[in-house]
Amino acid sequence: MASPKVVVVGSCNTDLISYTPRLPKPGETINGHRFSIGFGGKGANQCVAAARLGAKTAMVAMVGNDSFGRDFIQNFRDNDVDVSHIGVTNEAATGVAPIIVNDEGENSIIVVQGANLKMTSSKVEEAEEAIEKCSVLVCQGEITMEATLAALKMARKHNVKTLMNAAPADAGLDPAVIKNSDIFCVNESEAEVFTKVGVKTVQDAQHAAKILLSKGCSSVIITLGAAGALYSTSSENIHVPAYEVTPVDTTGAGDAFVGAMAYYLAYHPQLTMEEMMQRSCKVASISVQAPGTQSSYPTKENLPSYLFI
Ligand code: RIB
Repeated sequence: MASPKVVVVGSCNTDLISYTPRLPKPGETINGHRFSIGFGGKGANQCVAAARLGAKTAMVAMVGNDSFGRDFIQNFRDNDVDVSHIGVTNEAATGVAPIIVNDEGENSIIVVQGANLKMTSSKVEEAEEAIEKCSVLVCQGEITMEATLAALKMARKHNVKTLMNAAPADAGLDPAVIKNSDIFCVNESEAEVFTKVGVKTVQDAQHAAKILLSKGCSSVIITLGAAGALYSTSSENIHVPAYEVTPVDTTGAGDAFVGAMAYYLAYHPQLTMEEMMQRSCKVASISVQAPGTQSSYPTKENLPSYLFI
């Protein structure tokens, strides 16, 4: 069996999604229209997004010894993700994420990390063979920083490209995480946490990216929602606009972008970064037009063929 080209070391959360007219105020009770349960967690989402585009992927993660955890492993199998590095713990429940989505498709998310916090550097070491042989390692901020950093350092040791999506933003992020990131990817609000620069415009994003670059990563991507995304290195700034769509549910759109970027880096490395960003924005724009997180991610068969040339 061919070894995975994209390895994700990250989180698994069961998303408990309530659709409501608007986000409630503190202390307020409001009625929702609909409820659904789905597979989420930034790590799992990015892995499945890449797999749906045709990437050979592996997930390194922890789930609880419960029905959510068992369903999660089956869902990875159904998406052709290698599950041989997913551990099951009796010490915590599978991560969950209660989510509220309003009529404009905006969301509020709470993450209860549970088993994700059982990810350790030794679990990462057990996956060294997969990490060593892959083309792109993807990490996020929903498991222990110890495990994330171990994964990034391991990838560096083996000359594997690292794509770090520092979400959710942790102001106490170990500076070594940024230094070990080939691409450090954040959205506007996360960029603000790490740089103290309010990111409202592309110019603000360029300023924030410069500060992030000075912290030691090789390149920065700042996703800007409806304003597209910015890619920055010490010598270039590339802004790509977003596709104009009417969003139904933006939950996991950033993860669709990161998963697509991992796919393009691994399978179409000859493309320019601008082209990879445009194509990844396209995948993310499709994901916001359907409800749910992974349930909204497109497969290769449902996408235009120009995205795969
Ligand atoms: O980025 C969206 C994800 O954030 C959701 O799937 C939820 O589980 C949280 O991790």
